[in-house]
Amino acid sequence: MAQDNLQARGRGSFPLDDPTQSLIHDHHYVRQLMQRYLGTQDERVKLQAGPKICEALQLHTTLEEAVFYPRVQEIDPALVEKCQDDHQNVDELLVQLQELQPGESAYDDLMQQLQDSVLAHMELEEQQLFPAIRNASLDLQDLALRMQAYEANLISTQAASGRGTQPGGSLH
Ligand SMILES: [Fe+2]
Ligand SMILES: [Fe+2]
Repeated sequence: MAQDNLQARGRGSFPLDDPTQSLIHDHHYVRQLMQRYLGTQDERVKLQAGPKICEALQLHTTLEEAVFYPRVQEIDPALVEKCQDDHQNVDELLVQLQELQPGESAYDDLMQQLQDSVLAHMELEEQQLFPAIRNASLDLQDLALRMQAYEANLISTQAASGRGTQPGGSLH
């Protein structure tokens, strides 16, 4: 399979003036991977893209819930609650996907559901949540540093327990 330019964000990198840019990068990466998975019949592509999607989403949603959402709770609690509900739905789909093999028809169906759910959620974050954060008087630098520290710790914990998450991994 030809190499391409689809790359995950470098881990631990959050612009100090606007850490939401890193989350948007993650969104873009996951959108592209899901399109790739659902747009092919090639088993090799599915076998590679499926686990990458799950891994990227797990890391992303864990980071948002642990560090990002609590800090923005005061700005718009109803919106944060909606986002947390969306994450719960995504988590349930990820658990089901882990029981299956990429390329199986049940996996494909779940990936379609995951895409529907994730695209709507990402749009909500990008159109409403992130702008609200940028317009609020939050200390964005402090938020960026907390996200950076949390992600670094999460990755080293996963590495120690043998669970993957390759820093800056690309899809080849
Ligand atoms: Fe999210
Ligand atoms: Fe997100």
